[in-house]
Amino acid sequence: MEMDVQNTSVVDVYHALVGSVVPRPIAWVTTLAPSGVVNLAPFSFFNTFGANPPVVVFSPTLRRDGTKKDTLRNLESLGEFVLNAAVESLAEQVNLSSKELPPHESEVALVGLTTVPAARVKPPRIAEAPIHLEGVVRQIVPIGSGPISANLVIGEIVHIHIDDRVLDAHGRVDPRQLRAIARLGGDYYCRATDLFEMCRP
Ligand SMILES: Cc1cc2nc3c(=O)[nH]c(=O)nc-3n(C[C@H](O)[C@H](O)[C@H](O)COP(=O)(O)O)c2cc1C
Repeated sequence: MEMDVQNTSVVDVYHALVGSVVPRPIAWVTTLAPSGVVNLAPFSFFNTFGANPPVVVFSPTLRRDGTKKDTLRNLESLGEFVLNAAVESLAEQVNLSSKELPPHESEVALVGLTTVPAARVKPPRIAEAPIHLEGVVRQIVPIGSGPISANLVIGEIVHIHIDDRVLDAHGRVDPRQLRAIARLGGDYYCRATDLFEMCRP
C-alpha cells in the first residue's frame, strides 16, 4: 500500500503512524488544574531525548473537534508535571485514565488510585507507580492546528523517585522488576518482559 499523506484522511494517517512506530513508551502524566483538580492521562507520543539536562517530550494532540486536552491546558497554565511509570500491575488504570472526563473531575478518583506529594513540583505523584519523574515545561511547540495535530511538550526532569524494589544490584532499573507496558496500534499493548541482551560494539 502506498499512502500519499497530502491526499489521505488524517485518521488513516494516524492509524498508519501508531501501527508503524511501535512499541511506544507511555507517559502517564499527572498535572494540576488552576482549580486544584488533579488530572491523570496516558500519552504514548513520548520519549526521552537527552540526559544533561534530562529531557522528555510528549504530545497531547488536539482533540478530533480541535479543542485542547486538559493536560495541555494545565501545562500551559502551571508548567509542571509528573510522569508515573506505566507498569503491568497498573495496566487497567492506565487505560481507564484515558477516559475524557470534564476538567472538574479527576481521573485519579475514577481509577481508584492514591496520590502523594512530589518533591519539586505541585502536581502529585501516583503512589502505586514504582517510578516518578518530576518535570517542568521548557517549551510547548504546536505543529499544525487541526484535529490530532501535535503539541510537543518539551519538559526538563528536575527530580526522580525510583522504588528500590525495581532496582538491580548495581542500582539501575531492572526491567524484570519494573515490568513496563507499551503501546502499539489499535487497542494493543505489550509488556517489556521478552528481553535479550547484546553488548554494544
Ligand atoms: C495508552 C494510551 C496512550 C495515549 N496516547 C496519547 C497521546 O500520545 N496523545 C494524545 O493526545 N492522546 C493520547 N491518548 C488519549 C488520551 O489519554 C485521552 O485523550 C485523555 O482523555 C486525555 O486526557 P486529558 O484531556 O485529561 O488531558 C492515549 C490513550 C491511551 C489509552
